[in-house]
Amino acid sequence: MIVVAVIVAAGRGTRMGAGRPKALLPVAGVPMLRRAAAAFAGHPRVVTVVAAVPHPDEARAALGPLASRVTLVRGGPDRQDSARLGIEAARDAALILVHDAARPLVGAALIDRVIEAAATHGAAVPALQPPDTVKEIDAGGAVVATVPRERLRLAQTPQGFRAALLREAHARAAREGHRATDDAALVEWAGGRVVVVEGEPRNLKITTPFDLALAEAILGAEDNRSVAQD
Ligand code: CTP
Ligand code: MG
Repeated sequence: MIVVAVIVAAGRGTRMGAGRPKALLPVAGVPMLRRAAAAFAGHPRVVTVVAAVPHPDEARAALGPLASRVTLVRGGPDRQDSARLGIEAARDAALILVHDAARPLVGAALIDRVIEAAATHGAAVPALQPPDTVKEIDAGGAVVATVPRERLRLAQTPQGFRAALLREAHARAAREGHRATDDAALVEWAGGRVVVVEGEPRNLKITTPFDLALAEAILGAEDNRSVAQD
């Protein structure tokens, strides 16, 4: 089965406020896009890596030696457009993994779980239970309800899909002007069944400078641990 990873990396990084695209920013010295691409290019079951980026030349520079392994396409105005453009470039795929470059710490075991579940069930997303108590509020900001958490999940990426299912959902959404914030939501909207696999706390999404500091702290702690074990 041909597995293609589509990395969406064409966002502006407004909330990061670094004045340049977030995916090109270094995390402990290595650009976010390169870290994400390396996780998939180095995975034994992933055949091709596509990345939707703001500027192919800058992306090539950020990818360094990995550039020859990654097919670059220009992204679109929204994440959904970037994903669709990346999927269009993943022509021979039987299974597509859509991943946010903003999750550069994704690991091989998580990628395996998503591939396995998507191949079996057609569509799979990794997710975690919310760690905090969840409140629903009214327009004035007062609590209306404390929402039971057992059946709530926080979705991560990579999200995996049989290629035909994902292509169809994107095509239909484009035709009907439907928007969603992740690919699974498009497949759900199109009537598909999406199963959940266990996500990883380490696979955090880097949105703000705080998240970037957190990711660097995680990598630093892991480095220290491996030095201590040497
Ligand atoms: N993305 C994309 N194309 C867009 C918008 C977002 O490929 N037009 C990608 C981002 O590069 C990121 C992922 O979608 O890897 C998740 O988006 P987000 O974390 O919101 O990143 P940005 O849109 O860059 O950040 P912000 O919303 O703060 O501007
Ligand atoms: Mg965004």
